Amino acid sequence: MSSESKAAIAEALSEARERTLALVEPLDDAQLNRVYSPILSPLAWDLGHIANFEELWLVQTIGGREPLHGDLGRFYDAIENPRKIRGELPILRDEELRSYLGDVRERTLDVLEGMEIGADVEDPLLREGFVYEMLLAHELQHNETMLQLLQLVEGYEPGRGAGQLSPGQASGQLARRFEYPPVREMPRTPDAVVVEGGSYEIGAPAKGFAYDNERPRHAVEIAAFEIDRTPVSNGAYIQFMEETGAEPPLYWERDGDGWIDTARGRREPIDRERPVIHVSWEQADAFARWAGKRLPTEHEWEAARPHLDGLGHGWEWTSSDFVAYPGFEAFPYREYSEVFFGDEYKVLRGGSWATHPRVARPSFRNWDLPQRRQIFSGIRCARDA
Ligand SMILES: [Fe+2]
Repeated sequence: MSSESKAAIAEALSEARERTLALVEPLDDAQLNRVYSPILSPLAWDLGHIANFEELWLVQTIGGREPLHGDLGRFYDAIENPRKIRGELPILRDEELRSYLGDVRERTLDVLEGMEIGADVEDPLLREGFVYEMLLAHELQHNETMLQLLQLVEGYEPGRGAGQLSPGQASGQLARRFEYPPVREMPRTPDAVVVEGGSYEIGAPAKGFAYDNERPRHAVEIAAFEIDRTPVSNGAYIQFMEETGAEPPLYWERDGDGWIDTARGRREPIDRERPVIHVSWEQADAFARWAGKRLPTEHEWEAARPHLDGLGHGWEWTSSDFVAYPGFEAFPYREYSEVFFGDEYKVLRGGSWATHPRVARPSFRNWDLPQRRQIFSGIRCARDA
């Protein structure tokens, strides 16, 4: 691979890091260390974990170097250390944490210098720069988790650099600056799209970066169905609550006759036109039934994606359990997705206002527990044709 490609990797790594640091720039160390919720990590853990994951893969695994802090990495293992205990771990904090982020990055760039990352390299970790793409995706995905926690920080507004995506990263419908809160126009087309029945190719193509759970690409027979052109609006969700007594989305509070959004300590009236977010799978499923519809399967969602408007406000819950595609092979580590397969987690598709375009591939599969609402999750309904 040419030196330009390495330069592009270095550039993308540095942009991701700028975004990470811009997110926490308005916060002090006490806020970084504080546990705001048992289901979300303190930000200091996320930051250390981002650096440690980078050290593990880009410095130790492919660079063959020793870690900077001995076996500290075990406290940053996401499976070994559930979110509710992360605040008590002897992790790096304050100045030590900031130095670690910088020291690891310096070594990463040093290792990158000597690496062969072309299409014909034998090591699948290095072929076409896979491991670097994985690291970028990892950091950017953690940015979104950090933003979930930042909704709990009173008065929080992200630093100015957080929105500076480079034009090279902008692509398709999900391309946009990092806007806060979501302000995209909702297309006013209330109708549904009919998707023809037939065989659809589902999953990521063999070439290019994707996670193991998006592969192998395979044909799926799908019966004809209808899917709404737009996601469910706040207004429609309010009507559902009024008629059924359903619970509001996370951060909503009653205010006189209306509803307000209290995320980040604000008290902003709910805009009825915007898509609803912060709903659980249970709420999404109940809404769809109330509307005489159902949630789409993730296969339907992927087949319908070329016709969908209003993508990128919120992740869209599907009716599908997070399971392996036929012929799945874990790569490069089981703990990214394989350990979560089963009927416990539901798949979400699309992406939210907090998702970086690099992450929001058509085949990308997000997943969470059906009762969770801290994610930026919304609803789009379907029905049999
Ligand atoms: Fe992670």
